[in-house]
Amino acid sequence: MDYKELAESAIKAKRNALPTYSKFFVGAALLTNENKVYSGCNIESSSYSLTICAERNAIFKAISEGERKFKALAVAGDTEDFISPCGACRQVISDLCGEIDVILIKRNGDYVVKKTSELLPFAFRDKDLE
Ligand code: THU
Repeated sequence: MDYKELAESAIKAKRNALPTYSKFFVGAALLTNENKVYSGCNIESSSYSLTICAERNAIFKAISEGERKFKALAVAGDTEDFISPCGACRQVISDLCGEIDVILIKRNGDYVVKKTSELLPFAFRDKDLE
């Protein structure tokens, strides 16, 4: 699967978002090493901080199905510029996906490819806990 196709999966996943309060729809699509795709969307709670972002939703879905190795994660919102994952998601991408390609998509479908370490330089890591 190429990144254009993965980007399309993220855009499609956005349709299932439940952004009751923010009205900000986000979709994500995570590509495993075996070329399987897990999608995710943001889901909001009336207790706002319990909201889950699209990126973490896709990652946790994949991990909970037994997946451990990933190649790329695409993220789509309705932003004029490339969408920018929140800090919490950057930490989780770094911890659970490692150094993958992160595809950030604009409203018009254009995208840019970044590495995890570009999004979260000097990251706190599991090895820091040893
Ligand atoms: N959100 C995501 O799902 N991913 C991002 O990259 C940015 C923010 C969600 C969280 C919340 O539901 C809404 O967008 C507004 O912050």
